[in-house]
Amino acid sequence: MQFDFATTPRVIVRPGAMSNPGDWLGGLPGKRLFLITDPGLVSAGIVAPVVAALRGTGREVAVYHDVEADPPEARVLATVEAARSAGAELIVGLGGGSSMDTAKLVALLAATPQPLAAIYGIGLAKGPRLPLVQIPTTAGTGSEVTPIAIVTTPTQEKKGVVTPLLYPDLAVLDADLTLGLPPAVTAMTGIDAMVHAIEAYTSKLRKNPLADSLAREALRLMYLNLPKVLRDGRDREARSAMLAGSMMAGMAFANAPVAAVHALAYPLGGHFHVPHGLSNALVLAPVLAYNRSAAEVLYAELASVLDPGQRFADPAEASQWFVDDMTRLVASMPFAQRLGAVGVTEADLDLLAADAMKVERLLVNNPREMTLAAARAIYAQQL
Ligand SMILES: NC(=O)c1ccc[n+]([C@@H]2O[C@H](COP(=O)([O-])OP(=O)(O)OC[C@H]3O[C@@H](n4cnc5c(N)ncnc54)[C@H](O)[C@@H]3O)[C@@H](O)[C@H]2O)c1
Ligand SMILES: [Fe+2]
Repeated sequence: MQFDFATTPRVIVRPGAMSNPGDWLGGLPGKRLFLITDPGLVSAGIVAPVVAALRGTGREVAVYHDVEADPPEARVLATVEAARSAGAELIVGLGGGSSMDTAKLVALLAATPQPLAAIYGIGLAKGPRLPLVQIPTTAGTGSEVTPIAIVTTPTQEKKGVVTPLLYPDLAVLDADLTLGLPPAVTAMTGIDAMVHAIEAYTSKLRKNPLADSLAREALRLMYLNLPKVLRDGRDREARSAMLAGSMMAGMAFANAPVAAVHALAYPLGGHFHVPHGLSNALVLAPVLAYNRSAAEVLYAELASVLDPGQRFADPAEASQWFVDDMTRLVASMPFAQRLGAVGVTEADLDLLAADAMKVERLLVNNPREMTLAAARAIYAQQL
């Protein structure tokens, strides 16, 4: 057996943690904090108490609250400039994947200037970076424990900067920040996290036992708790379990990368501005069905994670149940179910399929080879 595994060195899962930042901020250098977030979080009333609590530790806090969803290159670079002019010494990302990914790149580029366009891909960036704390408010991308930042390029492609330099120093998961997350965003981001666990578990090149155990427990936690938080958004225990689950799924896919669901989701985000979790949800069922023949045993194992009590005749039956059950789960979620509903038409299918095939970084991890024709057929099926 051999594998590599890396993650964020310290994580804190504690409802209420943001009320006492003195408890966990102490070990990190930097007098001038630069907090990066988005306008939605400001209007949800989440940013002001966090800033007040951080100021209460005696540090200076500057706030940048103009992050855009699926961060475009230009906005990321504007945020880097703002951090430099504020003399930022410690970067804090507060929000979903968009704010956390922006915070990662700002921590890197403010300390070590280099052209963003030149560092898309794996291991191309140079350090050092500024100290970095991530505070997720969705459960979610797991960006607080991944070495990845996703950016939308001027040609509407979603590209990733992947380097160990982007692992944050600390992740603080406070369920109280997620109690007001609207049902649709809860559902989309929750499905994204479940996809991270599933795709890590079936990852072709770097699947490993440590990522596997994280992926299984992550999937179990989210399968159990997503329905609970959709019934009652203020269920603190279930919200905390969702944050822990999405983080563990992040740890898994950081070390056993995601595959075709994400590769087919990216062009929907790039061209149609479909939120990341929703774009995954829209292609999930047909990609699982496509992969089943190659991932039969692994999907059968995941079936027993979802329902440990159920007895199946053989892996074929169990894997089919897994695909059917995930398909049912997605269909029960409070968001759009067809590509037509997010603006996609028949005329777009060739472009979408061609762009999905460009995401080779992820397609190499798919358990079954994805072809242009198969990708097009999957989109067509979901129109
Ligand atoms: N770095 C990684 O490893 C990784 C993994 C998956 C996805 N991503 C990227 O992350 C981005 C998507 O992140 P996301 O799905 O978390 O969404 P997001 O960060 O774009 O946020 C979505 C919306 O939810 C709102 N919101 C967030 N938390 C809230 C809260 N607690 N209460 C009320 N509103 C809240 C935000 O204001 C925003 O309007 C995409 O760019 C995607 O490509 C990165
Ligand atoms: Fe994702």
